Amino acid sequence: MSTEGHFARVDELVEAAAAVRQRAYAPYSHFLVGAAVMASGEVFAAPNIENASYPLSVCAERNACAVAVAAGHTKIEAVAVVGTGDKPTPPCGGCRQVLFEFGGAELMVIVASPSGERAVWSLSELLPSAFGPRDLNV
Ligand code: THU
Repeated sequence: MSTEGHFARVDELVEAAAAVRQRAYAPYSHFLVGAAVMASGEVFAAPNIENASYPLSVCAERNACAVAVAAGHTKIEAVAVVGTGDKPTPPCGGCRQVLFEFGGAELMVIVASPSGERAVWSLSELLPSAFGPRDLNV
C-alpha cells in the first residue's frame, strides 16, 4: 500500500485498465479483466482473450505486456488490473511470473474492482524469491 504515493499516475493507469476491460473476450468465463502497464511513461492496455480451447485463453496482464513489448518496451514500472466482482482481483501466478520478467521485484501492482475498491502491492510481495532473468545470468 505504501508505494502508491510515489506514483502520480495511478488513477490514469486504473482508468485505462477499466476501459480496456470492456473489450474483454470472455464468452466462457464471463470474467472480464483489463490490465494496463506503464512503460517509459506510456500506457499499454489489453483485456483477457479466451478461446474455445479453454487452456489457450490468455490473461489481461500477459496481453498488456505483449502490447508494451510490441511497441518496443521491455521495462515496465507499474501495472493496474481491473477484474470482475466486488473485490479487487490479484494477478494469477503465471501472470506474476510474466510481470516479473518486465517489471522486476519493485513493480507496482495496483488492483481495482469495477466499483473502485483498490489494493496496491510491490511484485516482490506477490512473488517473493522469484526466478528471473538474473538466474540465467541475463
Ligand atoms: N484472468 C486474467 O485475465 N487475469 C488474471 O490474473 C486472472 C484470470 C482471466 C483468465 C480467464 O479469461 C478469466 O480471467 C477467468 O479465469
